Amino acid sequence: MSGIDYSGKIPNNVNLGEDRALQRALEQWQPGFLDWWKDMGPDGSQGLDVYLRTAVSVDPQGWAQFGYVKMPDYRWGIFLSPAEAKRSIHFGDHKGENAWQDVPGEHRANLRRIIVTQGDTEPASVEQQRHLGLTAPSLYDLRNLFQVNVEEGRHLWAMVYLLHKYFGRDGREEGEALLERRSGQQDNPRILRAFNEPTPDWLSFFMFTYFTDRDGKFQLCALAESSFDPLARTTKFMLTEEAHHMFVGESGVARVIKRTCELMNELKTDDPVRLRAAGVIDLPTIQRYLNFHFSVTIDLFGADESSNAATFYSSGLKGRFEEGKRNDDHVLKGQTYQVLALHDGHLVEKEVPMLNALNEVLRDDFIKDSVAGVDRWNKVIEKAGIPFRLKVPHKAFHRNIGALAGVRVSPSGRLVSEDEWRANVDQWLPSAADRALVVSLMGRVVEPGKFANWIAPPVMGINRQPVEFEYVRFN
Ligand SMILES: [Fe+2]
Ligand SMILES: [Fe+2]
Repeated sequence: MSGIDYSGKIPNNVNLGEDRALQRALEQWQPGFLDWWKDMGPDGSQGLDVYLRTAVSVDPQGWAQFGYVKMPDYRWGIFLSPAEAKRSIHFGDHKGENAWQDVPGEHRANLRRIIVTQGDTEPASVEQQRHLGLTAPSLYDLRNLFQVNVEEGRHLWAMVYLLHKYFGRDGREEGEALLERRSGQQDNPRILRAFNEPTPDWLSFFMFTYFTDRDGKFQLCALAESSFDPLARTTKFMLTEEAHHMFVGESGVARVIKRTCELMNELKTDDPVRLRAAGVIDLPTIQRYLNFHFSVTIDLFGADESSNAATFYSSGLKGRFEEGKRNDDHVLKGQTYQVLALHDGHLVEKEVPMLNALNEVLRDDFIKDSVAGVDRWNKVIEKAGIPFRLKVPHKAFHRNIGALAGVRVSPSGRLVSEDEWRANVDQWLPSAADRALVVSLMGRVVEPGKFANWIAPPVMGINRQPVEFEYVRFN
């Protein structure tokens, strides 16, 4: 087990103290990061004492410690999973060779781009979520939001460490740029579209952490296979933190559904107007939020056919989800995969070289994983004896990337005309009225153990604390 050095300015398990130049460069980046946190981190949170977990080891058993922290004092650090002795490359053209401990010159530009793109999503989500604390439905939820936020901040550190250590001056410049872009800003936005969408309310936040943090999981899993060993080890440790983010999303949506179902049974109605008047979010509105977040998130996997994806795989930069568990040759030359395409006014399956379809392969793995959680949400509705079921929309619905970009498809997968799309879009995606309704329900609840009317309490507290624990202290 590698312990973490907490004695320096930057907690780490990478022997930072032995590389003075790198340590200095990161210590110079640190004040900029703290300024960014003060400007763009959670609104009005600087003085709060928050019951947070902090990574203290990379041992899967007991890697974190819980305690009250003021967030600007959070110990953001650099932690890599332990090195595997004699790790070798297990996919692509270099299969069987030793994993790289440094960046090969010919892959430098692509690796830098991969790391910067991943790194950019981390601060972006903090920016997207920065006003949510003001409308948290409970102290428990407020704490979970802040936990996600500080860990996304740490993920930024993880990527900046790689940039500084392995990419010299270019890497340091990228590190600066990561603090300069802003989610949703016109002239200097974040790199990926879903990370420029606002997260204006808690239903959006839960959908985001369920779907979009899960995109993070799949990207990180693919990078944890990388031949560039420091990237593989960094992303592996990030995944331990990511699990909680998806839990926040899945359990959050489940609690919203539970509360709505309670009111439906109490009032004996499924009329959205009556349910909204009673202060809960009706199930069709939840479905529309699901449609939106699902479709925006699956775009993050990129174009269905991509020569970059082929290059990243064949050169060993990025593997598939669970590459090691698959029973094929891990080279994939000559293999094919089905992607969807528009042909003569129909959606048809088209066979393409698998190497070019690896974005689609990862997207399909993500879809399988997302559907499982939606089934668990449906169990909540079923248990309440209500016949409604949530469903993930068709893969071609509301897409903006690849061959399906802009093709008008209903959530069930039927091609529709522009007129039909316009006539139905408010049934398929959150309308301005839906968003206004959800925003109107948000209001801060800060009494320990109390919850806003639109959401049920969780089954358990955090770290075996009771639900009514004082997760955030306002002093
Ligand atoms: Fe992250
Ligand atoms: Fe996350």
